[in-house]
Amino acid sequence: QEYNEKESLYIALNYAKDFFHENLQSGEGQSIGLSYLKERGFDASTIEKFELGYSLDGWDHLLNKAKGAGFEESNLLKAGLILERENKPGNYYDRFRGRVMFPIHNLSGKAIAFGARIMTQDKKQPKYINSPETVIYHKSDVLYGIYQAKQAIRQKDNCYLVEGYTDVISMHLAGVENVVASSGTSLTESQIKLIKRFTDQVTVLYDGDDAGINASLRGIDMLLEGGLNVKAVVFPPNEDPDSFARKSGKEGFKKFLEKEEKDFIHFKIDLFAKGAADDPIKRAEAIRQVVLSISKVPDPIIRSVYAKESARLLAMEEDILLTELNRQLLKNQ
Ligand code: UTP
Ligand code: MN
Ligand code: MN
Ligand code: MN
Ligand code: MN
Repeated sequence: QEYNEKESLYIALNYAKDFFHENLQSGEGQSIGLSYLKERGFDASTIEKFELGYSLDGWDHLLNKAKGAGFEESNLLKAGLILERENKPGNYYDRFRGRVMFPIHNLSGKAIAFGARIMTQDKKQPKYINSPETVIYHKSDVLYGIYQAKQAIRQKDNCYLVEGYTDVISMHLAGVENVVASSGTSLTESQIKLIKRFTDQVTVLYDGDDAGINASLRGIDMLLEGGLNVKAVVFPPNEDPDSFARKSGKEGFKKFLEKEEKDFIHFKIDLFAKGAADDPIKRAEAIRQVVLSISKVPDPIIRSVYAKESARLLAMEEDILLTELNRQLLKNQ
């Protein structure tokens, strides 16, 4: 029973994915959707690789097409593709209308959900709308781009973690394929477990705004707790990996990543001491912040290696740092 329901959702999502993708080839989908994607620098092979598409602007394009092909409304509803009209029970309409479509794939490459971007700057509508939770889509278990990245993650033994769909795609265009997106929400334990199937090293590349930096800080601690080796790159204000990769070009982008990549200890020291390493109050704050992250590391040997390294970098007595670390470890319990 369960098996059949899941299977029927996969079929509906695959059908919708193909329909959205084909829409790029003619009419409104070509003149609006495809032009938008091209303007963003996404070439034909990238559009194929990520199976991008366009949802026509209207209430029932997908609904009618799918019904004509024999899909039940109850199936499309459970797949998150249509919605029921509030005051007209049994009456349905398309969830995704007039947006470029980013299929979200599971590990084996099946579409399990969509992210959908509006192309205008309509402040009344959210920039992205996403599929709801369904029997086959649990947002907190999924990382966007994992299917296209998994081989490269294993090969490079490193995974770049970004915020958005377009960051993943632009990094592929820049020749960096070991990248997944948390899709704008905070990282979960099951997402971390997913990464750990392929590598123990993550480099966090969040947007260069306050929200991005705060999300990096939370993400770093969660990754450390998961036993991963964590690095981070800070992007210039108002840049994200997508905008920055396009601005700096393939080589420039790779050089930037190499140059700016810091382990979490340097990342935090630079962030909290902000060049004022001689200001005792800022220094104390930086020390506390570094110790807080080290206290999340589950392995005591790795913890003591980090503690030693931090004491050296912060030019302080290792004993004092260890005392603070032990205090924090007790507090965490
Ligand atoms: P961003 O606002 O950084 O968007 O949100 P972006 O990825 O840079 O998108 P572009 O470049 O403007 O097209 C990061 C991620 O947060 C989720 C999406 O997954 C997005 O990629 N998000 C953002 C939403 O789900 N809804 C929103 O309204 C905004
Ligand atoms: Mn195609
Ligand atoms: Mn952002
Ligand atoms: Mn962004
Ligand atoms: Mn962006």
